[in-house]
Formats: sequence, structure tokens, C-alpha cells
Amino acid sequence: MVGDKIRQRVEKLREEIHYHDYKYYVENNPEISDYEYDKLMRQLKELEDKYLSLKSPTSPTQRVGGIPVEGFPTVEHPIPMLSLENAYSEEEVREFERRLHRELPGEDFEYVVELKIDGISISLIYEEGRLVGGSTRGDGRRGDDITTNLKTIHSIPLQLQQKIEGRIEVRGEIYMTRSGFQRVNREREEEGEPLFANPRNAAAGSLKLLDSRITNQRPLDNFIYVLSYSTKTKIPSTHIESLGKLKKWGLKINPRTRLCKNMEEVLNYCSLWAKKREELDYEVDGMVIKVNSIDQQARLGSTTKNPRWAMASKFQAEQATTRIRDIILQVGRTGALTPVAILEPTPLAGTTITRATLHNEDEIRRKDIRIGDRVIIEKGGDVIPQVVKVIESKRRGKEKRFSMPKSCPVCGAKVVRLEDEVVSRCIGSSCPAQLKEKIAHYAERNAMDIDGLGDKLIEQLVDKKIISDVSDLYGLDLSTLSSLERMGEKSSENLLSQIEKSKSQSLSRLIFALGIRYVGIRGARILAENFPSLHALSGASIEDLESIPEIGPRTARSITFFFKEKGNRQLLARLKKWGVRMKEEKKIIEKEREREAPFAGKRFVFTGILEHYSREEAKNLVESSGARVLNSVSKKVDYVVAGRNSGSKYEKARKLKLRILSGKEFEKLVEE
Ligand code: IVH
Repeated sequence: MVGDKIRQRVEKLREEIHYHDYKYYVENNPEISDYEYDKLMRQLKELEDKYLSLKSPTSPTQRVGGIPVEGFPTVEHPIPMLSLENAYSEEEVREFERRLHRELPGEDFEYVVELKIDGISISLIYEEGRLVGGSTRGDGRRGDDITTNLKTIHSIPLQLQQKIEGRIEVRGEIYMTRSGFQRVNREREEEGEPLFANPRNAAAGSLKLLDSRITNQRPLDNFIYVLSYSTKTKIPSTHIESLGKLKKWGLKINPRTRLCKNMEEVLNYCSLWAKKREELDYEVDGMVIKVNSIDQQARLGSTTKNPRWAMASKFQAEQATTRIRDIILQVGRTGALTPVAILEPTPLAGTTITRATLHNEDEIRRKDIRIGDRVIIEKGGDVIPQVVKVIESKRRGKEKRFSMPKSCPVCGAKVVRLEDEVVSRCIGSSCPAQLKEKIAHYAERNAMDIDGLGDKLIEQLVDKKIISDVSDLYGLDLSTLSSLERMGEKSSENLLSQIEKSKSQSLSRLIFALGIRYVGIRGARILAENFPSLHALSGASIEDLESIPEIGPRTARSITFFFKEKGNRQLLARLKKWGVRMKEEKKIIEKEREREAPFAGKRFVFTGILEHYSREEAKNLVESSGARVLNSVSKKVDYVVAGRNSGSKYEKARKLKLRILSGKEFEKLVEE
């Protein structure tokens, strides 16, 4: 007999999971982290396994996924898209190995270990080497046909590099980079749209858009991780070879993939990335361990939900609990007021956290966050953590609700919130907080790159009314600067030369630095490629701008609006008078490209053994940043990477006085 308490607990868990499934699969708007969701599911699974009479065909543990959403045609997956079984500890990974030995006694196993990309899984169909379809996983058997959206992702080839006979299906993951995610959220914040909670949601939301032109503007990317079937072309006998083949065909595969000869190597590689995952510009939530032999994979087979030849080793979620001491408001460049939680300092993923972004008033209300609450915080794709949820059971009754003030906490001007926006804004035209942000943006590394113009200094310059817009930076002199706090003569001189240098920055940087709404780094670059000067851009009509494929109507409107405004025109005239360059030069464009892809066009030769990368991985790594790998040393080679036991190639490189990198130096360079 199962007691009522347990029965109720099981019912409650099922209800919760159903609710979160709906939020996650249907609405693409989850309320809890994957880690918390997995925990609920495990609790339920454990109870059902213990009390067999509670098992039910309608339990969420009995199905693969959710329901396909409306709006896109449905496609069937001839081979179901399964998910992976999760391991949360080393012991569970070892149990996976023991199980393999039980299933195929007496056999040896090799493993391929890959990063588990935290994105959205997709299937791509190629016929005779041409992309003919792409779809989401959906419920595993049927998904949405999102071919048009997937085609906007530049790293997905529309045509493979070799003519592949017949039909093939590959599967992989679509994700948004952390930096791209921050950019998208910054734009949404300005636009007054609800923010995405993490890069995964942002990727999901972007793929579900019915207007693929908007998808096109989203910084989406992909990694392909399996060749699932092929009608005519032979599938290689190992997974690792298969990945090599996919790469040759022009598909993007993750270079941080390793072939491991035994379980020790697997576990080492998993713990390496558990430590290093923060270094990546995309989110990974674990590692995927796959049996390398395709024949063994076939003999191991699958359950209705998971393949028996693979396992996900999940990382610990980066969460912590703390208390909200206060909620303050930050005023952004466009006057947007962002509520920020001041937290009791707490360690999380290697740093001490003191603040969390609360995004906007609606978010606070939706999560019912109050001053004094105990909360769970999580590091998402952002540098600043977020509040996942309030622990209501810890409420003591003294917590205070937050409300948006009627006037700006900095300049006292009116705060308004437009009807269809979630953002409240200070409308003060001379709000010092906005001015400070504008100047900081102008000087930012990706904008005019004025090193040494930090927040503290900007604060003094604005508060002392020394500058009232960015053009005043060019009028600063040594005596004014060195009279400021913490500014010696030397640092003032350095700053002045940085300000001087900024006058000859590229046009794209200048466009970005102006802070035109909806014009980010990429947008600015595209504009600079299409207009030779700021003058030309300022004269462009909405139609001219919209004729550029990457520029949408909203951005086009915002640009023309910016240049129409008298204050902005006057500012540009002042910048011009100070000698800020407003035209593009070819040389500068080339330099910018070099900065972005440091190895682009460079030739590499590898010799000897590297500590952490196989030759293939190292090759993939540099090739993915635009370099070429050659077999022999000659004068044409830019870098020779000499690992352990390097022989004659090393000698030759020395004779030719080529740039030689040790294995360590190389690893440092590519992992930067
Ligand atoms: S292999 C048969 N490899 O993780 C399962 N999956 O539940 C094939 N994922 O739905 C999956 N990175 O979306 C595989 N390197 C990787 C992956 C990966 C991320 C996702 C995939 C899958 C989920 C597992």
C-alpha cells in the first residue's frame, strides 16, 4: 500500500512537470532552469520506480517530449529524434560503462566525448548535396518544418562542398552565442520587449519566428553532431570518422571533440571542460559520451527514449541562494530605467556576486520579487546573474514590494512608460546618468576604443560639468585632466593621446559609437560597408536603408530619425570640426577584419604531439578561424606549431626563421 502523502507528492510532481513542459516545449518560455526541471523529473522517476503501482501511462516520464507548436508545417522524423540519458556524477558515468560491458560482454569500447551544447536540436536533410529541409525535434517523432528560418543561419551550408549522392540526414544544435545574446537583450530592452532569460530561450524564440527576416538578424549558429542516415553514401564505421566526413562536406562540427581510449580519459576530458566551460562564447550544460564504433552502436540499440550507446554527463548548475538587500535603479544611455537587486554577497561559479539584474517592472511582478526576499540566483549567459525565483517559504512578512518611481532618481525628470513597452524611461534631455552612459559607450572597446576613460573619470567630467557631450572630449587639455582626482600627469597624457587616436577610428566604429538605437556592432559594420561616409549615411532614405538585406524597417527608421534630429546633426558637425574621421579607408577595413579573425589567411604547419588536442582537433580549430593547414614547412608558412617530439620540420622552421609556437603557446593562443 502506498500512503496518501506519497500519492499526493507524485501527483504534484506530475502537474508541475506538465506545466513546465508546456512552458518549455509549447511556449518556449520556461520558468525554471533545466537543472531544476531535471531534478523534478528525477524525483518523480525515483518515486515511480520505487512504488510500481503509481506508474501511469500519462506520466511525463512516459513520453519523449512535448507537442509540436502551430504555425509551421509538421514533418515526420523517419528515425525518431531521441534524447540522452543524464548522469550527474562520476559514479553514474562509470555505471554507463558497466552497462555497456553487460550488454556486449568481452568487447572493448572507444568513446567520443563532445561538448553538450545548450541549444535547440534540429535535423537537416540534404538531397544530392543540397539542403532541402530542416526541422525542430518537436515531440521526437514529428517536428516543425523551419527550413526558411534555418537557411538564414550562415554556418549552415545550403550546398555541401561535395556532391553527396542520395539523401542524408544530419542532426545538430542551434545556439546563440553569449555575446550575441547580450546584444539581442540590450536591443530588446531598448525596444521595450520582454527579455530572453538565457541564450537557449533566445535561440528557441528566434527559430520559432514566423518572419524569417527577423530570424536573419539574430546571431544564431550551429554545430552538427551526427550523421543519422544516408541512402546511398556509405556511413563510416566510427563516429569520429563520420564527424570528419561531415566537416569535409562543409558542415560545422565542434572542434573541441575528443576520441578517448578508455573511461579514465573520458572522465578527465569531462572535468577539464567542467572547469573551462566559462571560457566558451556559448553555453554548454554537460558533455556527451558516445560509443565510437557504429557497429557497436547498432548492436546496443535504443530504448523508446534514449540511445543505449550514449550518455550526457551534466555539469552542476551555477546557482546559489541569497537575500535581496535592496532594489536600485540604473539609468541607461537611452534613459531606460533598469531595476537591479543588491544582494548579500554570495560566491557563485568562482566570483562573489553582489548584484543581479531584475530587467524591468513586469519581471519583478511576474516573479513577485520583494526587498528582503531569499532568492535563487543563477548565472545565465550574462555576466550579471539573474534571479531565478523567490523562496516563498522563507518569507517573514516584512518584505517590501518594489514600485517604479514617478521621477528619475538621478535628474528628477519625469519617468514615463509607453503603453506597449515594458521599459520605463527618464525623459530628461540633460540627465547626467544618460550622458555618462553615452560617453562610456562612445569610448567602449568596440566603439572608439579610448583606453583609460573609465566610469570614475566620466563621472567627474560630467558632474563637474567639464563635458556635456562626446565632442567635448576632444577639447580636453592636460591641466584640466590632471587636476582631477586620481589623474596624474602621465595618465592624463596617455588619455589625451588615446582621445587623439580615436579621431582616426574606422567608420563602422564611429557609427556604432554614436549609439543610434538598434544599430549594434554588426549593424554598424554593414552600414559602413554600404556607405562610404557618415555624410552619405546621413542622407540615406528609409528605402535606401531597407534595400540592404540585413537592415530591417525598424532600424532604418531609427537611423533616419537620428540624422534628422538637429541636436545630433550639430554634434556630428562638432566632431568633424575636431577632426574625427568620417570616411572609410580600405586599409582600415582590412585591419578590422584581421582583428576579428586573427588567423584568417594564415598558414600553419603542425609537428609533434600536443598536450590537449589531437592533430585533427588542432587542425579543426585553426581552420575554423580561417587559417590553412599545410603539411610541409616552407617560407610561405606563418606559424609552425611544435609539440612534443617534433623533429625535422622543427629544424627546418628554425633554419627558415619562421614563427615557432610551442604546444603550450599554441593552446594559449587558441583558447584565448
Ligand atoms: S547526441 C540520440 N550530441 O542534447 C541523441 N546531443 O537530450 C542524439 N545535444 O536533444 C544526441 N549537444 O539537442 C548529442 N554533442 C551533442 C549534443 C547533443 C547537445 C542535445 C541534443 C539532444 C539533447 C540530449
